[in-house]
Amino acid sequence: MTETLVSPPDGDEARAAPKRLFIKTYGCQMNVYDSERMADVLRPLGYAPTDTAEDADFVILNTCHVREKAAEKVYSELGKLRVMKEGKAGAMTIAVAGCVAQAEGEEIMRRQPAVDLVVGPQAYHQLPELLTRTARARGERIGADFAPNDKFDALPVARGGDGVTAFLTVQEGCDKFCTFCVVPYTRGAEWSRPVAHVLAEARELAARGVREVTLLGQNVNAYDGEGADGTPSTLARLAYALAEIPGLDRIRYTTSHPNDMSDDLIAAHGELEALMPYLHLPVQSGSDRILRLMNRKHGRQKYFDLVDRIREARPDMALSGDFIVGFPGETERDFEDTLKLVREVNYASAFSFRYSRRPGTPAAAMPGQVDREAGEDRLHRLQALLDEQRHGFNAASVGKTVNVLFERPGRHPGQAVGRSPWLQAVHVDGAEGLIGEIAPVRLEAAGNNSLRGALTDSAEAA
Ligand code: SAM
Ligand code: SF4
Ligand code: F3S
Repeated sequence: MTETLVSPPDGDEARAAPKRLFIKTYGCQMNVYDSERMADVLRPLGYAPTDTAEDADFVILNTCHVREKAAEKVYSELGKLRVMKEGKAGAMTIAVAGCVAQAEGEEIMRRQPAVDLVVGPQAYHQLPELLTRTARARGERIGADFAPNDKFDALPVARGGDGVTAFLTVQEGCDKFCTFCVVPYTRGAEWSRPVAHVLAEARELAARGVREVTLLGQNVNAYDGEGADGTPSTLARLAYALAEIPGLDRIRYTTSHPNDMSDDLIAAHGELEALMPYLHLPVQSGSDRILRLMNRKHGRQKYFDLVDRIREARPDMALSGDFIVGFPGETERDFEDTLKLVREVNYASAFSFRYSRRPGTPAAAMPGQVDREAGEDRLHRLQALLDEQRHGFNAASVGKTVNVLFERPGRHPGQAVGRSPWLQAVHVDGAEGLIGEIAPVRLEAAGNNSLRGALTDSAEAA
């Protein structure tokens, strides 16, 4: 469908003065990708990005529903936008997109009359049409539900932006139904884009100067998009095909589920140079009892075995993870098991959260909800350990020579900031001319969140 939805409008609209678009993005990388796609689909209608909501004719909040705080932020932001809109005598269109839009579209309409449009993650390709309908109906509010996954086909291939790195969604949705999580309800069932579509988008990115892509999916390693021969591909095979694209030197992917870490993907980490040695592999808890209650469908031993096999294939693999503390029924002993797992695995970085009770999820109705104080105490203890491991990882890199992909200018004149293969930010003086290039850097010092290094000719770079 819908080529017409993304082609430039004719007549008066095409000649109209540029309109300004402000998108505020919450949540995960997929929302960042989606926000860029929304800007792309609106560009032919004359919408150019602006940096502040005050300046904008059209404001989109691209929202996240994963924890209560993230969802509540949307309503406070909408309160501010309402005042702004009144100050402009109503000359501002406000849309709510993303996972809160999907989960509680009607609640948004009820709580905030200034909202003109609610649009769920599967309907962004319909934005131009929805906008026109909103304008015609003068404030009629329009929601959009799950549609078949034709949005990727209908979104324009030509993309804005001029970065060196880019996100590329290859898989969306989740069939895992962890008992704490809203994502299967907000993003729908697992669905993978065909290989040819992913390759076309990647070629476009490479032609624009992108050197590194991060493949995105809620369960990216469950990728099974249709291949050229009509059979399902795997993420590993997709990575091999992407690595053939001239200019595309680095491939990352996120987020992976331990149960979908297939043999061919593990092997690819040992064989495919473009596949970076950094893997986000969330485990959530180190307690078998809690993993069962979470419906994660694997235990701690399986996770340890997996980590061993991955490190065997790629000995310098850095691991990252997600953890939830204070899940219903979690005892101090369960929590100790999580700390033990973290000590055993040794993470290069990780995200950790206090459990947030999400309406409609099975865990919300479980007995033994942990009180806030105990949850916060556990979170502090876990984060102290994870911080220590991150510092240790960075400190151990000092003295090594590594390849850095330079992404942007640094704060000091002549300086540039790039990433090591292990996703560490590296600041290098005199490297401004190398943005978009990969060059060997000798790491000299580790700070809290980044490293400092110097350009070198060394051939020993990883
Ligand atoms: N698909 C990914 C996986 O399986 O790990 C994660 C997706 S979720 C968007 C990102 C992280 O948010 C999860 O890994 C989990 O740690 C956290 N999260 C999800 N629901 C949560 C909740 N109800 N409370 C606290 N953290 C939560
Ligand atoms: Fe949520 Fe679990 Fe699916 Fe990840 S695998 S998105 S945590 S339900
Ligand atoms: Fe949030 Fe939706 Fe991503 S709930 S984490 S924006 S998939």
